[in-house]
Amino acid sequence: MSPLVWDLAHIGQQEDLWLLRGGNAACQGLLSAKVEQLYDAFEHPRASRVSLPLLGPAEARSYIADVRGRVLDGLERTGEGDLFPYVMVEQHEQQHVETMLATHQLRAGAPLLGTGAPLPAGRPVPRDAVLVPAGPFELGVDGASEPGSLDNERPAHIVELPAYRIGRVPVTNGEWAEFVAAGGYDDPAWWSERGWAHRLEAGLERPKFWAADGSRRRFGIVEDVPADEPVQHVSYFEAEAYAARAGARLPTEQEWEKACAWDPELGRRRRWPWGDTEWTPGLANLGGDALRPAPVGAYPAGASAYGVEQMMGDVWEWTSSDFHPWPGFTPMLYADYSAPFFGGDYKVLRGGAWSVGGASVRPSFRNWDHPVRRQIFSGLRLAWDAEEAR
Ligand code: AVJ
Ligand code: FE
Repeated sequence: MSPLVWDLAHIGQQEDLWLLRGGNAACQGLLSAKVEQLYDAFEHPRASRVSLPLLGPAEARSYIADVRGRVLDGLERTGEGDLFPYVMVEQHEQQHVETMLATHQLRAGAPLLGTGAPLPAGRPVPRDAVLVPAGPFELGVDGASEPGSLDNERPAHIVELPAYRIGRVPVTNGEWAEFVAAGGYDDPAWWSERGWAHRLEAGLERPKFWAADGSRRRFGIVEDVPADEPVQHVSYFEAEAYAARAGARLPTEQEWEKACAWDPELGRRRRWPWGDTEWTPGLANLGGDALRPAPVGAYPAGASAYGVEQMMGDVWEWTSSDFHPWPGFTPMLYADYSAPFFGGDYKVLRGGAWSVGGASVRPSFRNWDHPVRRQIFSGLRLAWDAEEAR
């Protein structure tokens, strides 16, 4: 991970670049060129950032405050102008705030963040598989319908899917504990070849931050693993193995998005699973304050048209899809946001987690990461071909 203070100044550096200089890196920003380049994510891979001569916490804070002051002055003058760069930068900031939460979760030492804000209680929700009948739907969005959408979510286009089933709720810790107890981590039958090789090499035995005694460490606090909470801190390879043992598979990202956003009655997309109204805390666990996923059944009002629950927030959900552009992809102002990662060894995650800022996720939002990654707030939901439904 980056040192926290790198993320902090990098948030300001990107805001400085995209909002004060229109993306023109040749134009001098508020930092000297020599200092500014320390915050170039492509120049300096994560592992090397700790040894860079970074701004200290006080310097970083004063830099980002200076940038923000000038940005707000500029925003006042922009008025009715193009607001996309602002929402793009807001999302970039929230993405790094989430990364900083992952760094906090990884660090050893005394707890600093507390146990998190209260969440709604769960309810006894059926752990069943919801049928999504065959048929076309609109995948992706356009700038007109979803002005905050980033380049990889666009353009909207029609996709036809065969019938499938998808889990009503994400896989829980209790269900994952059964997989562990049944020897799921010891039987190569459930694992892909690459997944098994990784499981052996990394010595995986249970989700990251779980101990053998049924406890977990969450932001420095040791507590019992709550059975009804969606499992988090599992890699793609583990998710794939869990699904195989369950007689299921991971959904594709197309399946995930249809179950989340398509309204089959009206034959159109909803902006959110629950409808077109903005997110409120009663609809999904987003925003970062909870410091954990909510138990399954906590958000009946947040269900999609098909009745699928907790698609927004709680945990990022691994899909079986590799990260590729939609047909007609056009890079945005921040042209290297998506394009360098297409076709690489990245799996797509959907739906956002408890850790995601409300402006930074929607049904079309596509996150991506390496299939071994599990320090992120990643979990899963199962899917089935409709014929073999249970
Ligand atoms: C979209 C989360 C994969 O953190 O690597 C932040 C977001 N891009 N700064 C990442 C991002 C540039 C990106 N993810
Ligand atoms: Fe960044």
